[in-house]
Amino acid sequence: MHLLLALAVFSLSLLPLALMLEENSPLGCVPRRSVPYHRDNAHLFQEEGVSNYSTMLLREDLNLLLLGAREAVYALDLSDISKKLSSVKWEVTKAQEDECENKGKNAETDCKNYIRVLHKMDDGMIYVCGTKAFDPECHKMSYTNGKLTLEEEADDGKGKCPFDPFQRYASIMVDNNLYSATSMNFLGSEPVLMRSSPVSIRTEFKSSWLHEPTFVSMAQMPESDSSEEGDDDKVYLFFSETAVECDCYNKLVVSRVARVCKGDLGGKRTLQKKWTSFLKARMDCPVLESQLPYIIQDTYRWCDPQKPWKECIFYAIFTPQSDASDLSAVCAYHVSDISKVFAEGKYKTPVTVETSFVKWVMYSGDVPVPRPGACINNQAREAGIDGTLDLPDRTLQFIKDRPLMDQAIRPIGERPLLVRRGATFTRIIVTDVLAADGEKYHVMFIGTEEGTMLKAVNYKGEMFIIEEVQVFDPPGFIKILEFSVVTGHLYAGSDYGAAQIPVATCGRSSTCMDCVLSRDPFCGWDKTTKKCVLFSNLTSELIQNVKNGNASLCPKDEAVAPIVQYIWPGGNLKLGCPSPSNLAETTWERDGRLMTPSSRFQLLRDGLLILNASVNDAGHYRCVAAERSNAGEYTTTVAEYTVTGSSGEGGVSLRPSPRTAGPSIPGLQVVVALLVISLVALLAWNFYKGHIPLPWNCWKQRGRHPQGSRDHDNSDVVHQNTERPPAAEGKPLVSGAENNPRNNNHSTEVVVLQCTNDESQF
Ligand SMILES: *[C@@H]1O[C@H](CO)[C@@H](O)[C@H](O)[C@H]1NC(C)=O
Ligand SMILES: *[C@@H]1O[C@H](CO)[C@@H](O)[C@H](O)[C@H]1NC(C)=O
Ligand SMILES: *[C@@H]1O[C@H](CO)[C@@H](O)[C@H](O)[C@H]1NC(C)=O
Ligand SMILES: *[C@@H]1O[C@H](CO)[C@@H](O)[C@H](O)[C@H]1NC(C)=O
Repeated sequence: MHLLLALAVFSLSLLPLALMLEENSPLGCVPRRSVPYHRDNAHLFQEEGVSNYSTMLLREDLNLLLLGAREAVYALDLSDISKKLSSVKWEVTKAQEDECENKGKNAETDCKNYIRVLHKMDDGMIYVCGTKAFDPECHKMSYTNGKLTLEEEADDGKGKCPFDPFQRYASIMVDNNLYSATSMNFLGSEPVLMRSSPVSIRTEFKSSWLHEPTFVSMAQMPESDSSEEGDDDKVYLFFSETAVECDCYNKLVVSRVARVCKGDLGGKRTLQKKWTSFLKARMDCPVLESQLPYIIQDTYRWCDPQKPWKECIFYAIFTPQSDASDLSAVCAYHVSDISKVFAEGKYKTPVTVETSFVKWVMYSGDVPVPRPGACINNQAREAGIDGTLDLPDRTLQFIKDRPLMDQAIRPIGERPLLVRRGATFTRIIVTDVLAADGEKYHVMFIGTEEGTMLKAVNYKGEMFIIEEVQVFDPPGFIKILEFSVVTGHLYAGSDYGAAQIPVATCGRSSTCMDCVLSRDPFCGWDKTTKKCVLFSNLTSELIQNVKNGNASLCPKDEAVAPIVQYIWPGGNLKLGCPSPSNLAETTWERDGRLMTPSSRFQLLRDGLLILNASVNDAGHYRCVAAERSNAGEYTTTVAEYTVTGSSGEGGVSLRPSPRTAGPSIPGLQVVVALLVISLVALLAWNFYKGHIPLPWNCWKQRGRHPQGSRDHDNSDVVHQNTERPPAAEGKPLVSGAENNPRNNNHSTEVVVLQCTNDESQF
């Protein structure tokens, strides 16, 4: 609420704030705005006594959000999920609960029915599965006449849905076939990637196929589209597992991507009813701080509908292998890079050294034809192989023993897009938006373990976190995140409830400067209504400048009206100054002189506290916020106070308020103007001499650039990208590119950058 408070008025003097910036100030690396929990942050849904809202299905065709929780499925209004349209209870019976308990499970936590699968079927029905007290089961569900109904007939949920509600799993419905990655037995010791279809196909139970995996997500890719080789569509699976290929003493977990072909029917003798096209590769997201690989936690498939599938990008979240670090990272991968490794890469093969020890090395012998793990393509068809049932044993035996590719998948730009210390990332959604400058930007929405949502954009190499919003209170782990292009809203689920969040709440900016400096491609300042509003074509007269945050484009605003405060001798006096931005530095002036904090004058984040006030403290106080963007530094008077000694009875308002026609204080203005002029002169001299560096990017490069060559309004963000420094220097969070030759021929529509709260910790 206080963020919406009028901050009013700016003196748009381009007063640089470099003097107030410390060398290590975390520019652009902290969210510019932190929004505490508020009911209005999101539409919330939760029901008394029901928890674990962690499965979702968007039915834009019905304007519905289907939400799976513990023992219940809800049909909610997609436009406002606080409106419940219908629900079904799907509870375990007492007998089922008892049986589960007898097998040694906890009645309260394990032996319930957790909804884990919700998918749309071809006929418009919904396929739903639940853990059902460690005995998973699936049903069809319909939504007719506003009512959700669970059909009587049940399917065995084994292999489709986990037994254990705490185990991670993944599933996707493709062409009415359910692809699921989960454990198919009570003990959780038989992990599979399975397709439930007339002929069910699954992975082998071999540690070289899946070794203690944690399944993360799945995606399909229409790779048969205008494929010259007559290739098949694929289903991708992201997971982590204990590495078989590591010759190390301790268990090492690695991130993986695997893929299968949609047309796979298994082999005839070898690999009967098993995938003949299951190939997997390691995925790297190189974050330097730890020697251990980071572990994948979620992915999002981003595709431009106008472009071919090869242009799709997988965004993925990674967290450290050990709890020792609280960094999270986002890496992005070209689908074409992944697909190329599977289509052309070398395989790894196990070699027995000494008697029992197995080492995995690159396979350099002859590879059978058709290529093991490849989909049936034109070349195979020409050789008389029309389906996987026709594949020769040699090919099948090869893939059965060697499903792992030798080469790892490297992220775009060879390093993470974003690395951040703080609340651990859990889920990610990426959407693109056309900004006022005519460019499309990818906006990342990242859910965290603390129930917050980050919104970040990569502006041609500069990672900028627009805001971090507390969505859930209590702060619960965001367990699922979905995005609807139709409503333009995000849908998040946690153990305590579900939330619907707009992609932008532009109204959080109440001034033009704040609106422009927030650099949110969804928002712009409307000069006529004087509001920060959602950017759309209809309102093309908006002021927006996402790349540079050029607040000079804003009209000059009115001045702040001073608030009169009275002193209670001996009492404490707080002068409020709510800064709209974490990137702004606030300073206080008293009678035109910069104040330094002392034991009696304490500078708080949101104001000035005067302890044991006396009549001598009377004067004119001004709180100035200075914020830097790529276009320059902008200062604004957030609040002004006239503190007088003449005793008044209470009536003291702590909050500044804007005025429409402010009284003028000519003497003071002259003093301030002189001060500003001398400051500007001083700074200009300093910049000229190069005493004050200008840290535009959150990826700081100070100390390597000839500082004198940088000036105020250059467009150096772009130039910093084009000549990214070599890997070894200046990117403390990223390790080198292993032994792989550095691959610079990626097209980088997503340019790379990282930031962290405090680089000095590395
Ligand atoms: C379900 O939610 C409760 C909190 O209400 C949480 O303690 C528990 O771990 C959750 N269970 C699962 C399986 O996620
Ligand atoms: C927005 O404007 C651009 C050009 O100004 C036009 O090509 C596009 O179709 C418009 N989009 C919508 C949704 O009106
Ligand atoms: C408060 O200030 C007065 C003088 O203005 C001083 O005499 C007194 O000791 C101070 N009290 C405290 C608690 O510091
Ligand atoms: C910012 O906008 C002002 C006013 O349009 C313009 O003169 C200035 O060149 C811009 N600065 C940058 C860095 O784009």
